Amino acid sequence: MLRTVTATAYVTPFREGGSLPGLMEADDDGMYVVKFRGAGQGTASLVAEVVVGELSRRLGVRVPELVRIGVAAQMARLEPDEEVQELLNNSAGENLGMDYLPGSFGYDGIHWQPPAPEAATIRWIDAFAANIDRTWRNPNLLIWHKKLWAIDHGASLVFQHAWPPVDRWATRRYDLSEHILAPVADTLSADDLSTLDADLAARITPGLLGEVTGLVPDDWLLSMNSAFGDDRAAGAWRARYQEYLLARLRDRDTWRPELAPVGS
Ligand SMILES: Nc1ncnc2c1ncn2[C@@H]1O[C@H](COP(=O)(O)OP(=O)(O)OP(=O)(O)O)[C@@H](O)[C@H]1O
Ligand SMILES: [Mg+2]
Repeated sequence: MLRTVTATAYVTPFREGGSLPGLMEADDDGMYVVKFRGAGQGTASLVAEVVVGELSRRLGVRVPELVRIGVAAQMARLEPDEEVQELLNNSAGENLGMDYLPGSFGYDGIHWQPPAPEAATIRWIDAFAANIDRTWRNPNLLIWHKKLWAIDHGASLVFQHAWPPVDRWATRRYDLSEHILAPVADTLSADDLSTLDADLAARITPGLLGEVTGLVPDDWLLSMNSAFGDDRAAGAWRARYQEYLLARLRDRDTWRPELAPVGS
């Protein structure tokens, strides 16, 4: 289970974030970057944050702790900013919190670089999960205590916004030529990249996918029914994510990032 906390104060919005995440304080005295269920993409992007963030963590990537954070309806009343007020109003209930890393700064690929296997692992997971949000323009990587931390997996699992036929999505290549970690990852030899691919793929078992999809609150999955005119139980939604990800794992020679670039 993800830990559950309750928000006690809204501190400030992160204006650079497309979905207007907010910094909130919680009843455990922790500070969290909160992604709101009432933001544009609905709960689907919260599902992606949990599934891909927790999968990454289990594959050895540093990801700040994720929690379920309860936001009470009356919090909106204390908020003077109209945009924030509306977002809080639409977000009563459980939202996604990420442990706030104080004093962290954004990775720029220039002043410091992570070890190549770490860079290649993050890029491989991004290709697997169709996360195109890790570019020079939008790195979504933080440096904290001289280590790299991956944040913001909300735009990954793009299939969940349309649910195309599973086979078609499984073999789809995404253009990762602008991936911010590509120059570091590509310092590994072809043999090393191939070993890394085999190792990561072997670790993504049905059991592991069951575990990470099991961390998603039922309610976030059930609200996808209204978005898609569907009527599935939470367990059926979890099985659907697992089916898509297992199919992609099987067909990974079509999308592995170090193979021929898109269009060649
Ligand atoms: N755990 C964290 N600790 C410290 N700062 C963070 C953390 N998570 C996010 N931030 C800061 O908040 C900003 C917005 O967060 P994030 O990228 O997750 O939001 P977003 O709305 O999905 O953004 P976008 O869609 O623009 O990429 C980040 O660029 C970063 O500066
Ligand atoms: Mg971001």
